Amino acid sequence: MVKPFVFAALLAGSAIGTPMPQATGVPTPTTLMSGAYWIRGVAAPNYHKYLQTKPANVPGTAILDSHTTAGQFAIESGQLVNKASNPPLYMWVEEPADKANPPRTLATWFNTTKSPFGTFAWSGDTLTWSVPSVKRQNLGAWLVCAKQALFVNTGAYAYQTPSGCADQTIHYYNDKTANN
Ligand SMILES: *[C@@H]1O[C@H](CO)[C@@H](O)[C@H](O)[C@H]1NC(C)=O
Repeated sequence: MVKPFVFAALLAGSAIGTPMPQATGVPTPTTLMSGAYWIRGVAAPNYHKYLQTKPANVPGTAILDSHTTAGQFAIESGQLVNKASNPPLYMWVEEPADKANPPRTLATWFNTTKSPFGTFAWSGDTLTWSVPSVKRQNLGAWLVCAKQALFVNTGAYAYQTPSGCADQTIHYYNDKTANN
């Protein structure tokens, strides 16, 4: 069984408050670091496709892709953090201009600074994202669209799926290696 982890000790030495460091592409360790999770799809067409960036572990669009380049993540104070990158990278969600009538998809990406918009949480092993200003039917509904890019689905899961996208929920996995 999977257990929650505590990150207070790891956070103590983080780079918060220092000038933005230069991000470098670090190969993902092939084994899971203590306190981190893989995050992956578990249904077609993204069965065992893992959350990451391309190149791996540098700022960029959040995608679901090969197990060989998977990022390693933790939720810390509502932020989704890639622990395999140096510096750590935080997942951001696009903030729509009209929050009462948001677009169907909100883009996601990783940046070196904390996201100012929304909160990540686990619901069981499912990754959710929420913000009070945007009403969503299903906080665990994601869409994977062109070039494997991951989006928040502001509509219903598996209903009027936008063309070129696939409905997915994404889940943590904590075996030592990311498998195919
Ligand atoms: C990354 O974070 C910096 C500092 O918060 C911000 O100015 C910049 O707009 C962000 N870039 C993206 C693409 O999120």
